[in-house]
Amino acid sequence: MSDHPIDPGPAGPTGPPPLPSRWRRRPGERMVMTPLMSSVGAMIAFAAVVFIVVLLPVQTFNPKASKDWVPLSDAALAGRQVFLSNGCVYCHSGFSRPQDVRAGLYYLYPKVSLPGDYFGTDQTPNLLGTERTGPDLTNEGGFHPDDWQFAHFYNPRYVDPFSLMPSFRFLSDHEVNDLSAFVQERSGKVGLLRYAGTLYAKHVDLAAQAYKPAPTGFQGANRTTEQADEQGKTADVIGGNILPQPDVVNLNEADRSYWLANDPLPVTVANLLRGKEIFRERCVACHGSLGDGKGPAAKFMSPPPADFTDKDDQCCGADTSPGDFYYRVLRGFPGTAMENFGTRLSVDDIWRVVMFAKTIPNGTLKSGRVPTPQDYIQWTPQDDLKAYVKAHPIDEMAPFVERPAPTDPFLVEAERMFPGMAPSDSILVPNIGRIDLTSIAAGIRRIYFNLLNKAWSDAKARGESLPPESQKNVLPEPIETGS
Ligand code: HEC
Ligand code: HEC
Repeated sequence: MSDHPIDPGPAGPTGPPPLPSRWRRRPGERMVMTPLMSSVGAMIAFAAVVFIVVLLPVQTFNPKASKDWVPLSDAALAGRQVFLSNGCVYCHSGFSRPQDVRAGLYYLYPKVSLPGDYFGTDQTPNLLGTERTGPDLTNEGGFHPDDWQFAHFYNPRYVDPFSLMPSFRFLSDHEVNDLSAFVQERSGKVGLLRYAGTLYAKHVDLAAQAYKPAPTGFQGANRTTEQADEQGKTADVIGGNILPQPDVVNLNEADRSYWLANDPLPVTVANLLRGKEIFRERCVACHGSLGDGKGPAAKFMSPPPADFTDKDDQCCGADTSPGDFYYRVLRGFPGTAMENFGTRLSVDDIWRVVMFAKTIPNGTLKSGRVPTPQDYIQWTPQDDLKAYVKAHPIDEMAPFVERPAPTDPFLVEAERMFPGMAPSDSILVPNIGRIDLTSIAAGIRRIYFNLLNKAWSDAKARGESLPPESQKNVLPEPIETGS
C-alpha cells in the first residue's frame, strides 16, 4: 500500500474516497438541462411521435379500395354529416373487430372491417368511434328496414324498451331520411345486398297484404295506429295457391321444418307467467300493451305489427303455428320490422313467450291477470295447410345432403328471405305475379345494382376519386371476408 501514493483528498480520511495520484477530481456537478432546453426537447420528442404515428401513415398508408367497398350516395353522405353532428359517433363505433362479429345474428353476414373499407374522400376521416356504448354499426346496413329505423330514431324505447339511446325526434324528416340512408349504405356491398333483400321482401309482404308503403322520415309520428292499421286489407284469395294471401307468403318466409311444430314446453302457469313477463318487457312497444298490434311504434310501420287478439287466427291460421311464431321471434320476419331475438332470449324463453301469445285473446295481458293453462289456445293444422304441405313436401334430408355452396350472392340472399321455399316451388302474389327463388334473386339483384349505380354516379358527380370501374362489378360475398 505504501508503494502507491494516495491523495488523501481535501476532507481527509472522512471525505470522499481517495483517488489514484494522476486522476483529476471532477468539478462540482451542475444542472446542464435548462428549462428552455427541456421544453424544446419535449417538443421534439412529441413531434417525432406525431410524425411517425399520424403524419407518416396519413401520407404513405393508402390502401386500395377493398372488394366490398362502395361509395356513399348523396343522401347517405348528407346522413353521415347528421350522424357526426349529433354525436352518434360517440356511442357507435364504425369498425368491426373479429370479436365484434355477431355471427349469431341472422341476416348478418359476419364481416370484419378491412383497411380498404375506408377508401375515398367521402369516408375520410373515417368514423371509427371509440366508446361502443351502443352496438358497432359497421354491419347495420339492411339489418333493419327503414320503418324500424324511423321509429327507433324517433324514440328508441318505441322498439326496444331497454334502450338507453337518446331520442332524436328534433331532427327534420329530411335529416332522418338521410340518416337512414347512411345507416343502410355504410356497410359495403354485403350491406347493400342485405338491404336489397329486405327491400324485396318488404315489397312482397306489402303486396300480399295490400298495404301501402310505410311513411318516411318522422311522418309516421303523425298517424294514429288505427290509420296505420286501416291501410291494409287481406288481398283476395287468388287462384293458383292452395292457401290464401298473406299466409302463403308468410309461410314461405319461415323455414318449413317449423310449419307444423308445436310448443315443446308444458303449458304451465310458471311458463306462461315468464312468457308474459318477456312480452311486456320486449314486445309491447310494437305489438301493443293489449297485444292488438297497436303499440307506439306501430304507426311508423308497414306492414304493422301482428295483432294477437284474434282467436280464430291463433287456433287455425295457416301461418300461426307455435313453430312459426317461434321461428319469427328467433330470426325475425323478412322485410318487416319484426326483429330477431335469437341473441337476446334463450330458446326456452322464446317458447314461453310464444306460448303466452297464444293466450292473449283471452285477455291475459291485463295487469295483474295470471294466465292459466285454460287460457291457452291450442293450434291445429287446417286442411288447406295439410294440402299445401303435401304438395310441397319437406325433404328432411336436404340439409344433410352435400351440395356445392351457391355462388350467386343474390340466390343466397333470396334463400335467406324465403327459407321455406325449395328450388322447385313458386307462389302467386297479387300485383306481382308468380315468384320463385330464381325470380326473387333477380329482383334482389336489380335493387342491389340500382343502389350501387346510384351511389357510384353520385360519387362521380361529386368528383371523388373512385377505384377502377371493375371494382364496382365485383359481386358481394355473403360470407366471412377478412379474418
Ligand atoms: C348515448 C349513446 C348513444 C347515442 C348518442 C346514439 N346511440 Fe344508437 N344505440 C345506442 C344503444 C345503447 C343501442 C342499442 C339499443 C337500441 O337498439 O336502441 C343503439 C342502437 C342503435 C341502432 C340499432 C343497432 C342494432 O342493429 O341493433 C342504430 C341504427 C343506432 N343506434 C343509430 C344511432 C344514430 C344514427 C345515432 C345518432 C343520431 C345514435 N344511434 C346515437 C346508444 C346510442
Ligand atoms: C320493432 C317492432 C316489433 C317488436 C319489438 C316485436 N315485433 Fe313481432 N312483429 C312486428 C311486425 C312489424 C310483424 C309483422 C307482421 C306482418 O307481417 O303481418 C311482427 C310479427 C310477429 C309475429 C308473427 C305473427 C304472425 O301472425 O305470423 C310474431 C309471432 C311476433 N311478431 C312476436 C313477437 C314477440 C314475441 C316479440 C317480443 C319478444 C315481438 N314480436 C317484438 C314488429 C315487432
